[in-house]
Amino acid sequence: MSLHLHTNTQPSSQGKVYLVGGGPGEADLLTVKAMRLLQATEVLVYDHLVSDDVLRFVHPQAQRIFAGKRRNEHTMRQEKINQLLVDLAKQGKQVVRLKGGDPFIFGRGGEEMQALVAASIAFEVVPGITAANAVSCYAGIPLTHRDYSQSCIFVTGHLKDGTANLDWPSLVKPFQTVVIYMGLSGAKSICEQLIAHGAPANRPIAVVQEATLPTQKVLVSTLEKLDADLNAQPLQSPSLMVIGDVANLAPSLAWFNPYPK
Ligand SMILES: C[S@@+](CC[C@H](N)C(=O)[O-])C[C@H]1O[C@@H](n2cnc3c(N)ncnc32)[C@H](O)[C@@H]1O
Repeated sequence: MSLHLHTNTQPSSQGKVYLVGGGPGEADLLTVKAMRLLQATEVLVYDHLVSDDVLRFVHPQAQRIFAGKRRNEHTMRQEKINQLLVDLAKQGKQVVRLKGGDPFIFGRGGEEMQALVAASIAFEVVPGITAANAVSCYAGIPLTHRDYSQSCIFVTGHLKDGTANLDWPSLVKPFQTVVIYMGLSGAKSICEQLIAHGAPANRPIAVVQEATLPTQKVLVSTLEKLDADLNAQPLQSPSLMVIGDVANLAPSLAWFNPYPK
């Protein structure tokens, strides 16, 4: 890879892995560093969340390896992906490991880099715009706001064992924003649990599908009504949920697509 990027490692016959955040979908949201790496890479290992818009920048001769990863449908097991990155680097390849959003936010980037450290492989990590930032900015939902929210929590709605066994009491406090990744399929039970743990039934919740893409959709509802609203207007993955009073700002702050769409 003929990159003119700063690196901390000495040149060697061994390759290197660049763990790169591909952002939420719209290619203009890539960092300059991510784009330069994509344009120069020999091998690309990518996940299903990486948009076609972003893949347009990959060097035309680069070998592309799809690592998959949809919920309950892991095209390649995590251990196999870890080993693949190690093997490619040992073959002397310059590899871009491209992930949707930011690689260290619910992206298993940490696990992959730990495998590289264990195998003494050189690597760099390039941050990407995570779904929470994308949803917030493109759907008009400020994650913090002096009138409504003083803190923000990111949680996953989908655990390794398939449950969403969250710390509910910490998620129902007022004046905070709770962002739930991978929560769409468990939305009904998440809302029920929040109400059961003391959240007001009329607390606003927004669900945003495919933020930053032309297919972006935004639904603003309440904890008690979300299930019915999702039945009336089904949304698809990837979708992010934002819970808290800031969600009510979406209709007035929407700029990317008119609300509702
Ligand atoms: C495995 S996590 C990966 C998160 C990613 N590393 C990030 O930083 O955004 C996948 C979840 O991220 C959320 N997500 C990713 N891209 C999204 C988008 N463009 N719009 C809405 N939600 C998105 C969804 O909740 C999806 O189920």
